Amino acid sequence: MGSDLTARFAALWASLAPIGRSGDSGGYLRYSWTSADADCREWFTEEAMDRDLDVEVDGNGNIWATWLPDGVDPATPAIVTGSHLDSVPHGGAYDGPLGVVSALLAVDEMRERGVRPATPVRIAVFTEEEGSRFGIACLGSRLMTGSLPADKAAALRDRDGITLAEAMSGRGQDPALLGPDPARLAGIDTFVELHVEQGRALQVPVGVASAIWPHGRWRLEFTGEGNHAGTTRMDDRHDPMLTFAFTVLAANKQARTSGAHATVGRVQAAPNATNAIPSSVTAWLDARAADEPTLAGLVEAIATQAKDRAGRDGTGFAATAESTSAETAFSAMLAARISDVLGGAPVLPTGAGHDAGVLSGHVPTAMLFVRNPTGVSHAPAEYATDEDCAAGVAALADVLTDLAAGSRDSL
Ligand code: GLV
Ligand code: MN
Ligand code: MN
Repeated sequence: MGSDLTARFAALWASLAPIGRSGDSGGYLRYSWTSADADCREWFTEEAMDRDLDVEVDGNGNIWATWLPDGVDPATPAIVTGSHLDSVPHGGAYDGPLGVVSALLAVDEMRERGVRPATPVRIAVFTEEEGSRFGIACLGSRLMTGSLPADKAAALRDRDGITLAEAMSGRGQDPALLGPDPARLAGIDTFVELHVEQGRALQVPVGVASAIWPHGRWRLEFTGEGNHAGTTRMDDRHDPMLTFAFTVLAANKQARTSGAHATVGRVQAAPNATNAIPSSVTAWLDARAADEPTLAGLVEAIATQAKDRAGRDGTGFAATAESTSAETAFSAMLAARISDVLGGAPVLPTGAGHDAGVLSGHVPTAMLFVRNPTGVSHAPAEYATDEDCAAGVAALADVLTDLAAGSRDSL
């Protein structure tokens, strides 16, 4: 490894870095089926083809690049690694792309080491993991595994009212092909996603995931009576902004007291005028907890308090689940094996969602984490050192080499 791999990481990283970057925030605007996304896809396709990988795009827009070693039957289920290239609004550089860049470099590293895998080694780039444009996290992997129906997905709308079907068509991807892909799923022996760690839980360069907290997104609708800010007496108002503000504070308090996480990071007021009491406020609650009863209790308690407050404010309140993810417990045997391969790497849970969580319900799945020195994520300051990222590539190459070599009937 050493400085050579660090330099190769830095060079490939730099080639992706400018795509979709906001000059104002320094963060990324890489939403699915936009021009930045198309540029990311083109970047990946070129890098994969430069490595003589066989590139395919499936009906859900996920990209697959396969290294078929000499003498290996293409029908053999593959060891698959990868992640996503899309971002949250003004997100960091590492969440997603680190797993894709590391996958390309791990293939280089294995070839350089003279590894001859007994299975195909495949890189996956999943569509819209963040749900930043169409609202549902892990869109590409949920569609592939059948947990999100194609017709529901096709009708999802972005903030400008454009449907997923329209956005895909606009980029030459036929939305009629959306839907479950059991054959592609059956072609996966094991999936390993490398990802930047998103808190401050990892004190060494590389760790292994044990579990993902259950989590979800709820759309909160507060309705009231639009009216004049200057002439409407304070006692006569039905102001949904008040109910909303109370609910944000209640969510924070409820999460703190139950050891869970609750966030309201997105809000829209209508008509959004300085001198008008709003007629409605829509907000999105992101809630997460270490176990499902705690999460269910948290969301229930927030909704109950919001309804009570709406009764006092003379406003309306409704909550709708937009995207939920059950608790993911990765295979403990696979995690232990990977930890051993990496010389005893720590095994830790995360509160962040991943395509690996969706796949884990269908195929043996594991995750590697690369240390995040500040713990910042989903923000422009997200960061990992080149040295740690190179250590992640070397670790991924070790793990793929191990998994692609032997029999794993007992996982
Ligand atoms: C994805 O990164 C999520 O945890 O929301
Ligand atoms: Mn993310
Ligand atoms: Mn991610």
